[in-house]
Amino acid sequence: MASSSECRPYTLLSCGMSLDGYLDDATDERLLLSNDADFDRVDEVRSGSDAILVGAATVRNDDPRLQVRSAERVARRRAAGRPAQPLKVTVTNRAKLDPEARFFAVGSGPKLVYCASDTVDMATEHLSSVATVVDAGRPVELRGVCEDLFARGVRRLMVEGGGEVHTQVLTEGLADELQLVVAPIFVGHPGATRFVGPGQFPFSGRRRARLVSTTQLDDVVLLRYALSSRFSERAW
Ligand SMILES: NC(=O)c1ccc[n+]([C@@H]2O[C@H](COP(=O)([O-])OP(=O)(O)OC[C@H]3O[C@@H](n4cnc5c(N)ncnc54)[C@H](OP(=O)(O)O)[C@@H]3O)[C@@H](O)[C@H]2O)c1
Repeated sequence: MASSSECRPYTLLSCGMSLDGYLDDATDERLLLSNDADFDRVDEVRSGSDAILVGAATVRNDDPRLQVRSAERVARRRAAGRPAQPLKVTVTNRAKLDPEARFFAVGSGPKLVYCASDTVDMATEHLSSVATVVDAGRPVELRGVCEDLFARGVRRLMVEGGGEVHTQVLTEGLADELQLVVAPIFVGHPGATRFVGPGQFPFSGRRRARLVSTTQLDDVVLLRYALSSRFSERAW
């Protein structure tokens, strides 16, 4: 991987969770936590991002498109001399990703798969026609992924889950901002995915994150937190 020592993109974590802290339920159906007003807000955040990162389980379970949907926002990006869509990025150890997943199949923009060294050959065989596969070492460290993205020109990175990826970004001190949407439902299933798993988080005990704003969007609430000194009030 290209390296760029201390340099990493401004990183914003974005997710929706239930009142009891879950990202999803335990069924095969994708749980709808957001609402139309919030989907539109997320679209605006995406349009301000150079890249969007999700974990491989999110690619497999949710089959997200990870596209800016609004034609007006796409036009604004083009007018500013930026690519029409943000770069799509995922990380994997096992490399069990379907090249027909919407992550790869939707949108003509570039996609990056950061893959553990021991499965990189398999990933290249299956995915090289639809994405650039990067040997990210073993273990794959997200700090290295972020630095490599910075070296590739990514300055604003949006992380859209799931829980395993959020946990690493937070515990490795890579997050500058958290946009957390709380939906008015409970999941209550021990097998469901939580917003984060166990770990040593930079904000615990007496060290508290700074709440910047709260915004009600119909029946959900957006909580915006500054997580580093790089936090930027700039609207995305
Ligand atoms: N509510 C929301 O806003 C929201 C957003 C996104 C996702 N979700 C939900 O979250 C759930 C998925 O979350 P999750 O915690 O299970 O998984 P995840 O964070 O989406 O992905 C975990 C997977 O990513 C890969 N990975 C993560 N870190 C890695 C590293 N350092 N090196 C190599 N590979 C790495 C591994 O893939 P391999 O297994 O391929 O090795 C791992 O199994 C889904 O059910 C989805 O619905 C909700």
